[in-house]
Amino acid sequence: MQEIKFIEAKNLKEKPDMKNLGFGNYYTDYMFVMDYTEGKGWHDARIEPYGPLMMEPASMVLHYGQATFEGLKAYYGVDGDIRLFRPEKNMERLNESNKRLCIPELDVDFAIEGIKKLVKIEKDWIPTEPGTSLYIRPFVIATDVHVGVHPSHTYKFIVILSPVGAYYKEGINPVKIYVEDDFVRAVKGGLGYAKTAANYAASLKSQVIAEEKGYTQVLWLDGINRKYIEEVGTMNVMFVIDGEVVTPELNGSILPGITRMSTIELLKDAGYKVTERRVSIEEVFEAAENGKLDEAFGTGTAAVISPIGVLEWEGKKITINDGKIGQISQKVYDTITGIQSGAVEDKFGWITKA
Ligand code: COI
Repeated sequence: MQEIKFIEAKNLKEKPDMKNLGFGNYYTDYMFVMDYTEGKGWHDARIEPYGPLMMEPASMVLHYGQATFEGLKAYYGVDGDIRLFRPEKNMERLNESNKRLCIPELDVDFAIEGIKKLVKIEKDWIPTEPGTSLYIRPFVIATDVHVGVHPSHTYKFIVILSPVGAYYKEGINPVKIYVEDDFVRAVKGGLGYAKTAANYAASLKSQVIAEEKGYTQVLWLDGINRKYIEEVGTMNVMFVIDGEVVTPELNGSILPGITRMSTIELLKDAGYKVTERRVSIEEVFEAAENGKLDEAFGTGTAAVISPIGVLEWEGKKITINDGKIGQISQKVYDTITGIQSGAVEDKFGWITKA
């Protein structure tokens, strides 16, 4: 394994009020950086002071969006240990995204070593208030200076850290979601399953419209029929219909969420019936009309488990579980956050200690 150099910062920042973090507002003192050069591979791994990147205006990522990213979190455990939740899944997914965007793959173990080392250096930035964590944002960008359209020959892999609270202002309280039936986020064969900047750029217009209407996020329908449910802006989505948990199957245009995967695994383990299949928006609205839609919730690293209280689609509005958090959503939230903090036994082996 290559060595990770440490370049010390001259000054350290003042820490923010850890009780009032919001999401993505503060960044720590250091970042992990590694370069890629064709013929040489990934090299020059280092932890250096967090700061501006020097880039030429013709850098390829700025023009054609060859950019992938991940999101994971570090938690201070009840025992004082630092825990990461399934980091290998994030790094494996980053490689899947990289493959789709013609970006060279990373060594999963080495990337995790880099993240662990960075998090340990920044341990004083890990907040301890309930519902807070240190958000880890690894990303890869194309750095060739060239405006021709082809894959870059050079890249940077960077990991930055941000102490965060809840992603939504609602916290664990139910959010209102607007079902988008005009714009689409992704189509099969496109980039939908990859965690790339382009998917989030494609989502912004609808997000702004939904917010103007008083909604927190958009629920995307499939790009061809505008009929089958895909995902919400920053999370996968699950419905409890007549006691059964149903969630859209991974079809190529949906992000294969790690919280989604963990939720399915732990609910199945707890004896719930969980089905991954096509779920139409009509089915969900019909279930609501017939009193069979027990719960709806989103799953994501940033969003954790986020109950959905209201859905609006084509002018029709449904309120789910009286706008309150449901029993299954609460159970999944408690189990996952419990495993992350060490309060619940990690019987699935999901935790890596930093
Ligand atoms: C995450 O859940 O970590 C995400 O990447 C979603 C979002 C903040 C873009």
